[in-house]
Amino acid sequence: MKVNKAEIVISAVSQQQYPNDQLPEIALAGRSNVGKSSFINKLINRKNLARTSSKPGKTQTLNFYLINDLFYFVDVPGYGYAKVSKKEREKWGKMMEEYFSTRENLKVTALIVDIRHKPSEDDVMMYNFLKHYELPVLVIATKLDKIPKNKKGTHLKRVIDTLEMDPDDTIIPFSSETAEGKDDVWHFIDQIIK
Ligand code: GTP
Ligand code: MG
Repeated sequence: MKVNKAEIVISAVSQQQYPNDQLPEIALAGRSNVGKSSFINKLINRKNLARTSSKPGKTQTLNFYLINDLFYFVDVPGYGYAKVSKKEREKWGKMMEEYFSTRENLKVTALIVDIRHKPSEDDVMMYNFLKHYELPVLVIATKLDKIPKNKKGTHLKRVIDTLEMDPDDTIIPFSSETAEGKDDVWHFIDQIIK
């Protein structure tokens, strides 16, 4: 897909604020600082439409980005950041549950993991949470630029094994630095939203 229009429509904290135009949505999920917002920017060729940061905890709301007036990317706050109070964590849980458990136009969730590391317990929990709601998952193993080329296979296998990925789910190695994997992701998205 050639992106010629991308705009933020709303930063939502609750259901009443979600767009109600019934367009398909692709949500992001993943640890804080793993590269969710960078993933969106790379796909739509924008440097910082989805705000990124080298510090975890940048994205705090559900941000709906309308792409080509055709579908939404929904950027979400990450999990697993230690310096978060119990109260904030509960707020995060409620906001995520509210979105993922009720959203009918959610077509697929891109679960972003760091290809360098074994997925964390939180990653496994998030994967299982999405499967529990019978939501299709696309696993993106990002920061591919940070590992030697000849390690790609082993690292991917570790992600698949640790998440105990459903064989029907797709995993795509990706880099927001080099754009590797970008064409594969678009191919996947084109299938989903047509
Ligand atoms: P939160 O909003 O805090 O949950 O984080 P996020 O998941 O949106 O992460 P973000 O996109 O803000 O990126 C975090 C840091 O990782 C930034 O410094 C990015 O430049 C860096 N980063 C993201 N993707 C890649 C990648 O593919 N390769 C490399 N080398 N760095 C990346
Ligand atoms: Mg972010």
